Amino acid sequence: MSRVLIAPSILSADFGNLERDVRAAEDAGADWIHVDVMDGHFVPNLTIGPDVTRALRKATRLPLDVHLMIEAPHKLIPAFVDAGADRITVHQEACPHLHRTLSQIREAGVGVGVALNPATPVESLVDVIADVDLILIMTVNPGFGGQAFIPGSPAKIARARALTRAAGRSGVHVQVDGGMSPETIALAVREGANVVVAGSAVFSSKGGPALALPALRAAANGVFAPHGPP
Ligand code: DX5
Ligand code: ZN
Repeated sequence: MSRVLIAPSILSADFGNLERDVRAAEDAGADWIHVDVMDGHFVPNLTIGPDVTRALRKATRLPLDVHLMIEAPHKLIPAFVDAGADRITVHQEACPHLHRTLSQIREAGVGVGVALNPATPVESLVDVIADVDLILIMTVNPGFGGQAFIPGSPAKIARARALTRAAGRSGVHVQVDGGMSPETIALAVREGANVVVAGSAVFSSKGGPALALPALRAAANGVFAPHGPP
């Protein structure tokens, strides 16, 4: 099994000390920095945009994993690419012309991701699986950090991994986002997730990233993953 990647979500960082918190995550062994972009329409919360993403780009060498929880993401993809995003994930539910939007991200030269809300079936991606590098399974309803992992998620993660395999694309990342802790990481990795987003578990925990990151990684590594990626 390849190594599980951990992507701390800066949504739970101290926005007054973003540079400090991102560096702390990097020093603690984070693989990617997950950037949650919310527009107050697609989800009931507002967060950050391209300018803060550009500032993050200067603060870390880690890949910036930009999760767009916004309506009409095609309008802002160029701005996030220009700001330094390394991969961009759009929501299936926000893209009536999903294939066109995924092609737009591909042509921009960054990693291509597609996210599914908890109520959206994995099967909705059958016809675009050849066009993505990453499937993001939301394990909470998007909008806020610190929510509880939805119990039906492991079965959905397994269906996502099965889809990548059936399409001959087992190198596609299966990412999980929401309510991830050492306990839920084990459930997700066992079913084939290989990228874990964690916000409050990293930045709101007592010891901060320096203690949380190794604990999350140990939980991921401790799993025997019969269905995991090769
Ligand atoms: C939720 C965001 C998540 C969030 C995760 O809408 O997409 O990335 O920050 O936060 P935790 O890990 O606290 O559930
Ligand atoms: Zn996210």
